[in-house]
Order: sequence, then C-alpha cells, then structure tokens
Amino acid sequence: MTIKLKAPLRGSATVPGDKSMTHRAIIFSSLATGQSVIYDPLLGEDCLSTIDVFRRLGVEITVSDHQITIQSDGWSNFKEPVQVLYTGNSGTTTRLLAGVMSGLPFRTILSGDASIGRRPMKRIIEPLNAMGAQVSGSHNNTRTPIVIEPSMIKGIDHQMTVASAQVKSALLLAGLFADETVRITENVKTRNHTETMLPVYGVNIQLEDNVITLPQRSIDEMRPSDFKVPGDISSAAFLMVAALITPGSDITLNNVGINNTRNGIVEVIKMMNGNIEVSVVTTDGEPTAAIRVQYTSELKPVTIEGALIPRLIDELPIIALLMTQADGQSIIKDAEELKVKETNRIDAVVEELGKVGFHLTATEDGMIVNPGRSNRHKATDSRGDHRIGMMLAVASLLTPEPVEIKGFDSIAVSFPDFMDMMERLGTY
Ligand code: S3P
Repeated sequence: MTIKLKAPLRGSATVPGDKSMTHRAIIFSSLATGQSVIYDPLLGEDCLSTIDVFRRLGVEITVSDHQITIQSDGWSNFKEPVQVLYTGNSGTTTRLLAGVMSGLPFRTILSGDASIGRRPMKRIIEPLNAMGAQVSGSHNNTRTPIVIEPSMIKGIDHQMTVASAQVKSALLLAGLFADETVRITENVKTRNHTETMLPVYGVNIQLEDNVITLPQRSIDEMRPSDFKVPGDISSAAFLMVAALITPGSDITLNNVGINNTRNGIVEVIKMMNGNIEVSVVTTDGEPTAAIRVQYTSELKPVTIEGALIPRLIDELPIIALLMTQADGQSIIKDAEELKVKETNRIDAVVEELGKVGFHLTATEDGMIVNPGRSNRHKATDSRGDHRIGMMLAVASLLTPEPVEIKGFDSIAVSFPDFMDMMERLGTY
C-alpha cells in the first residue's frame, strides 16, 4: 500500500479501546460464572484471538460495535477443546492464556502465527512449571506450540527476572488456581492492569510497592462484572506524534488511559519540549484523560532509559520517529525487549526508517537517533508488525513522496480504524 497522510491534523478523536485491558476483561469475564459486559473494547485481531479461544472452551461471547457480552458457565464448566487453540499474532493471548490453561482439568495446546513461533516462551514455561504446572514447549521448551497438561498449582514466591507484564500476568492467572499464596516481586514495574482489574472481578489481590500477593484459590472468588475500557495510549501515541511533527496541527484525544505504568510517552514528549496538555478526567480504577497535542517546532533531543522503558515499551517505534525531528541526537537505552516483540523492533525501526532517509543506528539495547530530514525514497516493509506499519504511515508526513509499505494490513491487530481516523483529522 502507498500512503501519504494528510496534514495538518486538527479536531478531536476518540482512540480505540486499550488492547491490554480488553484482553484481560475477556479473560476475567470468561472465568467468572454469569454475564459480563465489556464497553468500548478494542475489536482488533489480537483481542478477537482471545475471544476465539474462549468460544472454543464453550463460553458464549457476543460481539457488537461497541461492546462484548460474555455469558459464561464459569471456568469449571469449560469444555475440553478438540483443536489446537490458535492465538494468531497475539503474544498477550498466548502468554496470559498459558497461565489460565495451567489451572484447567484438561490438556490444551496453544499455537499462533509465524511471528508467535519466533517469540520466547521459556520466560513463562519455566516459572509456570516452578508453580507445579505441567507446561512444555517446542524447541526445548522455548517456543510455541505450548502443551499444557492438568496439574495442581502450588504457591510461589517469585522474583521477576524479565520486565514483562505478560509473564507477571501469566503467573498471576495460574496463581488464581493455587492452593497456597502466590507472591510476585518486580524489580522494575511493568503495566499493572491485571492487578488493577482483578479486584473488579472479585479477587482480593494485595499490592505493596513492588510486591503482589494473591490469596490461595482466588479463582473461587471470581464474579462477573461490567467493565468500561479506556482508550489505548499506545494507539493514541501515533496520533500524538503525527500532530507534534506537522506544522499547524492541534488535536485533542478523548478518554485516553493514562495509567502510570503506561504513560511514559507523555513524559518523553514533555522532556522534548513538546506541546502537550493532559487534562485528567477520571482518577479511580484505570485513570483517563483528554490529551491535547499541538505542533512543536523546537523539539529537544533526549536520552531515555531505565525504569521509564517498560512504561513506553510499545511506543518506542513511534518515539524513535519523533526523535528524528529533535534538534540533536537522541538515544534509547535498556530496551533489549524490543528485539522479541512482533518483530525485532530495533532492526525494523532503524532499517525501515533508513529506507526513507532517516539516520538511526542500532545498538545492543536500543538505538541512536540522529536528527534529519527525509531525503530517500525506497519501498518499506511493516514486517508484519502493526506498530512498524503505523510508524511508517506517520513517517509519510515527513517524506516528500508517498511511502510504500508492504504488509500494511497488519495494523488491524491493534488499530483497524487508523487510516479512517487519520483521514478525518487530516481533512477536518
Ligand atoms: C502487554 C505487555 C507488554 C506489551 C504488549 C502487551 C500486556 O509486553 O509489549 O503489547 O498486555 O501485558 P511484555 O510485558 O512482554 O513487555
């Protein structure tokens, strides 16, 4: 597909529901007995993969434009599936459901697309087995397909070794079935939606600094609940950067989730002197805000690293593009995790932006971003990664020629309406 987005961007928009929260709402609603309604969910392909798995376990799920209705007989009435449970392109589905399946009384097999087949699974297989689960994976327990046999889940006092909310959540989900307390300690905080949302579904999880404690047999406490999903800051990020880099832009994004474990991009934009205003709307549960962003002519270079990285991990591709517009060299450090996302996002960002003339250099744990104007014109490739596809589309705002993007349809994973929304803000 050949793309040249329109600018300036003006007006307001409501971004689609948060992907991480939609997955969790589907999972928790399916485990509980009764009816739950999820309002404003993300209906991207990843979340549909999670829905599909629970349908195969016998849960009744109805999807309409702005809501998902889940009618479940509860986890103890799940039916043993007769197929491999296909998780598509979704790492969250694969890893979180490996945790859930560990507590079920029958065998399940989880497998996804080629990208999922390349992603590391030892990080969940090892600690799940340490909890008494019986999980194995191909390639010497490092990859999908993952086979999960029934077992008795024990308690665990686990120190996280990788900053991953998916791993943490897989352990908490298996831990729901444990007959002892489960305690997880994080060195570096990662997104905490599992912890904020479990209480909504009746689970009495305790949080103290970096320690999460889940009482024994929490699964028995689960009850259905309605849940309204805030807009996804990771999707809003593409619009925010598009406005910051195009003269005359002034947009307001409504109802964006600004959970403190997710809002690192706002901090980076402020550090770069970007024109951004965050008006907090709700503070209880999952906080939301209206975010206004205007074009900024003098962006400052920054170095980002450490505990900030997990708070903006999914935004790094689009932040890298933003950094090309600063008036000096920016650096991203401590971001090795980018190598094991939907694609190797260090290589993908550096090489694909390089094809349209930007100057970035890959490092062991991130990248160096040099300021510059686009001066080359070569076809690019999303590499099947939704966030690389959208980064390249936003890059077209800076290129003299339209950008050709192979595999652009991968954006349907997290933001199916991206082009419509960009078109609307660009034609106001
Ligand atoms: C997610 C956690 C993050 C993130 C992913 C969604 C989640 O992955 O990159 O898009 O919903 O828990 P890691 O926790 O593996 O870094």
